[in-house]
Amino acid sequence: MPTTPVTESGDRSHGVMAVESVAQLSTVLEDTDPTLDPALGRIARQAAAEGVVLLRNDGRVLPLAHATVAVFGRVQLDWFAVGYGSGGDVKVPYVWNLVAGLRDAGVAVDGELAELYRRWCSEHPPELTGTWGQWPHHFPEMPLSAEVAAAAATRAEVAVVVIGRAAGEARDSLREPGSFELTAAERTMLDTVTAAFARTVVVLDAGNVMDLSWIADYGHRISGVLYAWQGGMEGARAVAAVLAGEIPASGKLTDTIAWSYDDYPSSANFGGRDVNVYAEDIFVGYRYFETFAPDRVQFPFGFGLGYTDFEIDPRVVQADDVAIEFSIGVRNVGTAPGKETVQVYATAPGVALSQPARVLAAFHKTGLLAPGESERVTLRVLFDELASYDDAGATGHPHAWVLEAGDYLFHVGTDVRSAATVATVTRDALRVVRQVSEAAAPVHDFSRMRVDRDDEGRARVGWEPVPRATVDRKGRIASELPPATAVTGDLGIRLDDVDEGTATLDAFVAQLDVTELADLARGDVTMHSPLGAAGNAGVLGGVTASLRDKGIRPVTTTDGPSGIRLSAYASLLPSGTALASTWNLPLVTELTALHGQEMIRKGSDVLLSPGMNIHRDPLCGRNFEYFSEDPLVTGRMAAAVVRGVQSQGVAACPKHFAANNQETNRTRNDSRVSERALREIYLRGFELCVREARPLALMTSYNQVNGVWAHYHHDLVTVILRGEWGYEGCVITDWWMEDATDPDFPALANNAYRVRAQVDVLMPGGVKTDDGPQAYADDTIVQSVAVPGGLTVGELQRGARNVLGLVRALRPVIDARTQERVG
Ligand code: BGC
Repeated sequence: MPTTPVTESGDRSHGVMAVESVAQLSTVLEDTDPTLDPALGRIARQAAAEGVVLLRNDGRVLPLAHATVAVFGRVQLDWFAVGYGSGGDVKVPYVWNLVAGLRDAGVAVDGELAELYRRWCSEHPPELTGTWGQWPHHFPEMPLSAEVAAAAATRAEVAVVVIGRAAGEARDSLREPGSFELTAAERTMLDTVTAAFARTVVVLDAGNVMDLSWIADYGHRISGVLYAWQGGMEGARAVAAVLAGEIPASGKLTDTIAWSYDDYPSSANFGGRDVNVYAEDIFVGYRYFETFAPDRVQFPFGFGLGYTDFEIDPRVVQADDVAIEFSIGVRNVGTAPGKETVQVYATAPGVALSQPARVLAAFHKTGLLAPGESERVTLRVLFDELASYDDAGATGHPHAWVLEAGDYLFHVGTDVRSAATVATVTRDALRVVRQVSEAAAPVHDFSRMRVDRDDEGRARVGWEPVPRATVDRKGRIASELPPATAVTGDLGIRLDDVDEGTATLDAFVAQLDVTELADLARGDVTMHSPLGAAGNAGVLGGVTASLRDKGIRPVTTTDGPSGIRLSAYASLLPSGTALASTWNLPLVTELTALHGQEMIRKGSDVLLSPGMNIHRDPLCGRNFEYFSEDPLVTGRMAAAVVRGVQSQGVAACPKHFAANNQETNRTRNDSRVSERALREIYLRGFELCVREARPLALMTSYNQVNGVWAHYHHDLVTVILRGEWGYEGCVITDWWMEDATDPDFPALANNAYRVRAQVDVLMPGGVKTDDGPQAYADDTIVQSVAVPGGLTVGELQRGARNVLGLVRALRPVIDARTQERVG
């Protein structure tokens, strides 16, 4: 069941309870989830509200103050609280719609029009097919006559028009009316309403970026525009609070909104069935627009208005070879309270390496500042974090992170475009920040974007051949195979003995025979495993009696980014883009800590979250689950989520590692991307998250990266993730995987191929055939160990140690749950 819009009548026709007032909420919760922590609802509402981005506010039409509003568009009731698929399909205990939210916020809503929509919506309920990946992107709009709009204009001063979209897993958004574009009926609605009202506010209830070029057609007749994203069960109420001014608007875009889809540099290649060439290279989102096409931007990255004005006073307090530190005064010089997000951007010299005009280097959101109040924000940027990856040896240092000599410019402001240049630091010599080795480089030729300059020094798009892989993969892997510990057979050591310090982990692992090791390398054979809470996504760890006898607890995994997906009711929280648009890291950690507590109440040990792929293209169906086009925002947000969840003793599992940027043919598509773009854009967020927050688990992606499926990718998982970043956690597959044989080691197929890469666990664990998932595991691992050149026991033991690290970290939570059940 996708979490779906609801009718205002409070019925459960779509399986979701619509609440109409706070008073009604407690009654609803008695029926659905009496265990729900009110604090979680409160913080979810705050987060959803802080994620709302105010794009336009002509004549200060907002906040609504005492105006009566006429609300148009069926989405006022049939609210899209979240997108579809595993990132949305939560059994939500209740959902607000916008009309109820507005009334809750004390806004006078034109009742006659609201009643018209209520009747029409209940007579024309949204058609929701149950087919995975085939849910509608929009719902047909109620036809609106000029008379109805004109009559409403006699009763209300301001019109609010609500437009909604959803997208989701297994299907990308479409460049069509009803998906990325407006439908004819929506256009007519806007024409009709703006003809009748002098002031119209548009609310966009959409998880993904959609075309907004039409706003310009209406001039000042569209006075206000709010991008609400999808804020979960409290989302509509949060938007209403922002419209009413109860919570000030403070969200900022984490993506560039361009004038047209064709303006996005990925658009030429996005959506290919088998191959997706990342020709734009590092020039993703604002990195492209600010460098090459600033006039193609409708709303810049980092942009968002508030209900007050701020004065920004940036000062450089210290600058040396290591870092630059800013002290930024933020003063509320307006008449309403508000929060502001200060952003620091950097420009690297770009001598041998092409560089974007601006790259986000740091950000901070202030607390709530009353008129006249100010806050001083300290932001420190380490030069090493601005390093670029030289994949071609252009600086003379191939496969190194380098800082080129030259001028580094720093810009401070409240969006990428308007940030003012406040400092220049000259570095006299090139610095090699980190020497690594080539990994996951392209195996096919293609051209990538670079910066060329015209006679006046202006940046122009140029192209160059991408450097191709040169590493001897077979030799690299063969030289790194781990030694095995001699298998002892069962000596009676239990995992608890390791925890209590009376035995070593190595001694424990040495007891496991090949079958047990192979069982540790897969989850229980089906989703909804009987070993975990009903409706779980899968269970790993103690999946057989012999493993459990040795004290290995079964570990329950559940989706996901917007809520705990089980048969039981669980909170539906703001989706990734909504959270990121808050730019408020402590708030996100506070929310996800409460989410972690809810996991404990519901019996989830591992949350398959955060989703953290880069918004490379606005049509990617799962963008709503992810944070941003920018890797710094992505990495810091993901770290904030992981910290919150893991502060409660449960685990987070960032996903999908890596370059899973489209849904079309997602399990077969090959993301062809330069090593530089991979490392600076698509892996950078993961790197930040892993280094800063140490997630206990991590999920690979379905797609291929330069010709190798991510779940078989030794370079990605062993060389980069574990080798370079020092990751010691448990790596799991996305649900099932594609069959393949290791091209360099033909004795390794499927699960054996995967274990060699250090992708520790197949999830769920059973075989998937053309007829669908089967409730049995294959024996490729056991077979491979038995043949010359096959998987080694040492590799299986290494994987077992990774899995047991996760099981041991979760033991207190799992044991407490078991005790409770027994008690
Ligand atoms: C999705 C994952 C999800 C998993 C389990 C897959 O289809 O890609 O993000 O965690 O299912 O539901």
